[in-house]
Amino acid sequence: MGDTQSTQLQFNQLRARKKQLIFARSPIHDWGLYAMEAIPQGEMVIEYVGEVIRAQVADKREKWYEKIGIGSSYLFRVDEDSVVDATKRGNLGRLINHSCTPNCTAKIIVVNSQKKIVIYAKTSIEPGEEITYDYHFPLEQEKIPCLCGSPRCRGFLN
Ligand SMILES: C[S@@+](CC[C@H](N)C(=O)[O-])C[C@H]1O[C@@H](n2cnc3c(N)ncnc32)[C@H](O)[C@@H]1O
Ligand SMILES: [Zn+2]
Repeated sequence: MGDTQSTQLQFNQLRARKKQLIFARSPIHDWGLYAMEAIPQGEMVIEYVGEVIRAQVADKREKWYEKIGIGSSYLFRVDEDSVVDATKRGNLGRLINHSCTPNCTAKIIVVNSQKKIVIYAKTSIEPGEEITYDYHFPLEQEKIPCLCGSPRCRGFLN
């Protein structure tokens, strides 16, 4: 089986049998997502679901969300042209916090010619562990302090 086929199969399996995950308060920030089952390294954990919008629309929305006091960003950049906005429409994937030493990684995959954001287990994950990935936010002047608590924390999200 080719790589594309196996990714597609894994994605179908993820949709058919969702991983057992719950949201709860997080020491990192507000709410976080936690595994309720053991997840082997390399497996898909959850899709980051939201509304697919153009980058220009996302820039406008980001400013608007800041203005109305939505402090958390649920905007996930897919590529130069598109962003997934999970602010109003999304799944539990939107509650995953950033860590500088994460147990997951976010990847863009293509399924039926559509780009999807999938969170993969980077390490094996134990039940009760908080799910995290590295947001890889671009560097900005207005810094967001990182509260991931890792000994190798970079200090800022961006
Ligand atoms: C997609 S949300 C994650 C879920 C969020 N904890 C919540 O309750 O809505 C992303 C936002 O969470 C916060 N966040 C996530 N990881 C963080 C970290 N390591 N340090 C500080 N804030 C973090 C930031 O405000 C970021 O914009
Ligand atoms: Zn950190």
